[in-house]
Amino acid sequence: MSPSKKDYEKRYVKPEEQISGDSALRAPCAALVKYLDDEDVPTGRALILGSGLGYDVIHFAKKGFDAFGIDFSQSAVAHAERNASRSKAKCQFACEDFFNLPTEHLGAYDYVFERAFLCQVEPEKRSLFGPIVSSLLKPEGVYVGILWNPDKNPYDREPPYPITLGIIEQTLGKHFRLESLTECPDGIDESKMDAYFCIMRKRNI
Ligand SMILES: C[S@@+](CC[C@H](N)C(=O)[O-])C[C@H]1O[C@@H](n2cnc3c(N)ncnc32)[C@H](O)[C@@H]1O
Repeated sequence: MSPSKKDYEKRYVKPEEQISGDSALRAPCAALVKYLDDEDVPTGRALILGSGLGYDVIHFAKKGFDAFGIDFSQSAVAHAERNASRSKAKCQFACEDFFNLPTEHLGAYDYVFERAFLCQVEPEKRSLFGPIVSSLLKPEGVYVGILWNPDKNPYDREPPYPITLGIIEQTLGKHFRLESLTECPDGIDESKMDAYFCIMRKRNI
């Protein structure tokens, strides 16, 4: 089962105690940093799903993007806002459920980014993911995902639902065309758990 909103809320009350050692939550993802540094990625509006303590959102903002993070944990959002203010980053956060986002988000973004978000969506709800992400993007908008890849990982720790190539195709293939899929050289975070770095462009359907 994926962790509930209540589970996440508990973790984020005192993240330094609850998730000590989980560096995913303490720094922007190395693969995202590299992507925004190395590639000629035009700036634009970016929505970050399950933004946690906000470091990926802060990184987008520092690179000139209009960055907005959503997370359904109020405590995560409060920490993220504090972290952004400390880093003097201009970005926004809101406590919102991905599956029930206000209509103002529809068609509003050039990019939707996620790290370790899809892998904690219950398989029964996964079919909603592609259509929702597509609805958030402008025409030709881009989905950037850092997806936990199970090949060389134990299954006994979170995130709970490993993402295979088949799942990527099944979940996103109808709404997106694949632009690139590589293995993250540095893993999903400093824990080095293997991950795919996936870039897909919205299809006009
Ligand atoms: C595995 S954590 C990843 C956090 C962050 N992306 C990172 O890599 O540091 C998943 C995050 O998604 C949030 N989350 C889970 N389900 C959500 C939902 N339905 N809507 C919004 N946020 C959600 C959790 O509160 C948690 O912060």
